[in-house]
Amino acid sequence: MESHHQSWDELQTFSRPGQVEFHRHEGLIYCEVNNQQCRGRFYLLGAHVTDFHPRHTRQPLLFMSEAANFREGSPIRGGIPICFPWFGPHDVDENAPAHGLVRQKMWALKEVKSTDEQTQVLLVNDTEHFHVAYRVTFAETLETDLMVHNTTDSTQRFEVALHTYFRLSDVNHVTVRGLEYVAYLDQLTGETVPESGEPIRFTRETDRVYLQTEDPIEIQDPGFHRRIRIEKKGSESTVVWNPWTTKAQRMADFGDYEWPSMCCIETANVGNQAISLEPDERHHTVAIHSVSS
Ligand code: BG6
Repeated sequence: MESHHQSWDELQTFSRPGQVEFHRHEGLIYCEVNNQQCRGRFYLLGAHVTDFHPRHTRQPLLFMSEAANFREGSPIRGGIPICFPWFGPHDVDENAPAHGLVRQKMWALKEVKSTDEQTQVLLVNDTEHFHVAYRVTFAETLETDLMVHNTTDSTQRFEVALHTYFRLSDVNHVTVRGLEYVAYLDQLTGETVPESGEPIRFTRETDRVYLQTEDPIEIQDPGFHRRIRIEKKGSESTVVWNPWTTKAQRMADFGDYEWPSMCCIETANVGNQAISLEPDERHHTVAIHSVSS
């Protein structure tokens, strides 16, 4: 697949002082957006959104690890990695990177549209079988829309996850609602667990793929006095993950004591809910994140 390296001069054509500005960090280029509703940040590496902070809230929405790597070929830990065209380990190639190809590649910025109230950016990438276009709207809400277009002349299948890391006051005290009546595949045991009727409360390492879920999900975080709502379209799976203590220690790009400050709720289509696209067909996976008190 291609890794696009856009020149600094080309990126400057999208720049609007005070609203859309480009900066360098450890050899990577990121873009800082500012409008009346929020501020945000994304890297060209992985089209990775690393910050979204609506002005009506005290805390930023997204968790970023202090141990995150910022270099091409390595994914960024935190924010919103894009997992595509497979999720988790590759089916047959054990040397292929986990979670697909695009989170460690450079994307190209194609468009920036801004008003006083919102900033919308479009980033693109091409893999062997697909054209991928990612539209992110930084406004009072954060909308992420990943469009996948089958550019071949045969049916193609893919998995996808918008692997959002949410910043929490303390994972021990948050409650996740919206998945009470949904069965899940426990990735730690390989078992399918039936619906419980109970909201999720984290008490240990958690790695679950909820199946057939299209309803909005809400994270209630009493410590930050806020509720985060995730609405989705074109996504039938939801992944819920927290590494807890031991796995946190095993991850080189994640601090040993950071696990209470995050959880991932991923807007996805994985496993049996992978998407099949006919030639020239397109699919959108959309997540809209909002915060209220
Ligand atoms: C989650 C998976 O989506 O991502 C977990 O369900 C995995 O199994 C986690 O550990 C992090 O993956 P990575 O490749 O970013 O370390």
